[in-house]
Order: sequence, then C-alpha cells, then structure tokens
Amino acid sequence: MDDKQIKLLIEKAIAASQNAVCDFSGFRVGAAILTKDGRTFTGCNIENISLTMVMCAERLALYKALSEGCKEFTAIAVAAEGQDFCPPCGSCSQLLFEFAPDLKIIMANSKKDYTIKKIEELLPMAFRFLKK
Ligand code: THU
Repeated sequence: MDDKQIKLLIEKAIAASQNAVCDFSGFRVGAAILTKDGRTFTGCNIENISLTMVMCAERLALYKALSEGCKEFTAIAVAAEGQDFCPPCGSCSQLLFEFAPDLKIIMANSKKDYTIKKIEELLPMAFRFLKK
C-alpha cells in the first residue's frame, strides 16, 4: 500500500467514526477494512444501555465485509479521538487474526498521524485450533 492509499483508508475510518453511537463512553472509533479486490467496508462503535452488547468499529467493518461475501483482506484503518493510537481490543484482534492473518492494522489519531502493525504483532499468541 502506498501513502495515498493509506491516507484514503484513514479518511474513510474517520468519516465512519462520525456515526459512532457512544453515549456511554463518549469515545468515537471508526474503522475501514480494505479487501484484496479493492472494496472498502466501514464500521463505527455502537453502544446501548445493555453494555454487554457493545459493537466495536473493527468488528462491524469486518462483519459487514464478510456478510457481503468478502473473505480476503489487505488492511484495516482504525481512527479514534485523541493523540494516542487505538489498537483493536483483544476480542477484535482475535477475530481479525482468524479471518485475515496477514492483515495490516493502520492506527490513526486525531492529528491523522498513523502507525502500522501486523495483527500477529498485536496478538502474538492468538488462539488457534491445536493438534491433539
Ligand atoms: N472500541 C472500539 O470500537 N474499538 C476498539 O478498538 C476499542 C474500543 C469502542 C468500544 C466502546 O464503544 C468504546 O470504544 C469504549 O471502549
């Protein structure tokens, strides 16, 4: 991916974050996942009063892509408010690892600075089925 493609994916993640439903945390997150054939699916975090049902931005973007039949992914941009980079939570990292083991995670802050890590760097011992 070149810098232009990375910045475009970040812009899509930032745009998605504007739709966050985050009345409880007040923390907006947006994600944009790029498929190997060049399609993009976005997601934002969605919270409701039953806090156990929180949907993370990354998971929603991944599920939207999977539900449209996309199975191969290149990168996901995650944009969150603040100066820090927001990594996917442990649950989302596990999911991303399972469905896209070669995925690049582009994390962007409010200033649109970004850092890129592989999913295996974020979750080095992801669970996988082991031989008996
Ligand atoms: N959140 C995400 O959407 N993605 C992450 O990577 C971390 C956390 C959301 C979940 C919740 O709505 C809010 O951020 C605060 O935890």
